[in-house]
Amino acid sequence: MTLKEKITRLKTEKNAVILAHYYQETAIQDVADYVGDSLGLSQKAAETDADLIVFAGVHFMAETAKILNPTKTVVLPDVNAGCSLAESCPPKEFEKFIKEHPNHKVVTYVNCSAEVKALTDIVCTSSNALKIVASIPKETPIIFAPDRNLGKYIIKQTGRDMLLWDGSCVVHEAFSIDKLIELHKKYPDYKIIAHPESEEHILKTATYIGSTAGMIKYVKEHSDQKFIVATEAGILHKMQQEVPNTELIPAPAKEDNTCACSECAYMKVNTMQKLYDCLLNESPKIEVPKNIREKALVPIQRMLELSK
Ligand code: 13P
Ligand code: SF4
Repeated sequence: MTLKEKITRLKTEKNAVILAHYYQETAIQDVADYVGDSLGLSQKAAETDADLIVFAGVHFMAETAKILNPTKTVVLPDVNAGCSLAESCPPKEFEKFIKEHPNHKVVTYVNCSAEVKALTDIVCTSSNALKIVASIPKETPIIFAPDRNLGKYIIKQTGRDMLLWDGSCVVHEAFSIDKLIELHKKYPDYKIIAHPESEEHILKTATYIGSTAGMIKYVKEHSDQKFIVATEAGILHKMQQEVPNTELIPAPAKEDNTCACSECAYMKVNTMQKLYDCLLNESPKIEVPKNIREKALVPIQRMLELSK
């Protein structure tokens, strides 16, 4: 029996659901019950009736699923699947920052720890960030964390003056603007699409800016065109399945990057073998202390309500 067959059989026996992010390796995406962006994955986690949630993504995503499902078992194939954005916002320092700026509404990007969510008024993802910020009265000052690039993009789009935390995603900051311009000169008929975690100079070149799910939707709606895709290269698998006849090129990374395009090392620590092992052993389990979980649930639910 192949690993894929073993996973599929075990999943049915255990009434488990496999939720995978678009940045997971191809084989994991192909065995998953649902592949999506951070918002879609939280929505699926909120509505699942499975007993066991296998989260093929990174730690903050599995933690969000656990916060939404405290009585269910949530496992992550590799507990070392972290996130540079989540790590860039230590809860103690963030709490101090909030205290230094009283009367601000705290909006955090879902890419942060449960402790940081517990300090938050409302969570957002890249799919709904503009809508979430727009839901806050104009005169209310906002703290936005942890992604400064997404924060700058929201400021530009909404005209809101937000206080930004200085965090970033190593994967989206690995794109080389010089190489991107060079590539675009070679392929002038290709449109550039980009994730808002990318730096401003990359976003300026883009015809469309949006979440991973948003980018796939855009490409489907414009499948007669050709695209250079500025986000983690794992997205090309599902994207290409959706538009088999559309030409897609991953955006190039800087010279010192580990690969020519940009891959998230955290996402890629999950493997099919680890996925099988965690399903079999129901470990490593994700746990969130009750006091943190209860506080973190409120801003996540506010986001889900506003995203219906
Ligand atoms: P989305 O899939 O929600 O766009 O997020 C991208 C990302 O970097 C996830 O870690
Ligand atoms: Fe975090 Fe960036 Fe990896 Fe997403 S791509 S998990 S934001 S490091």
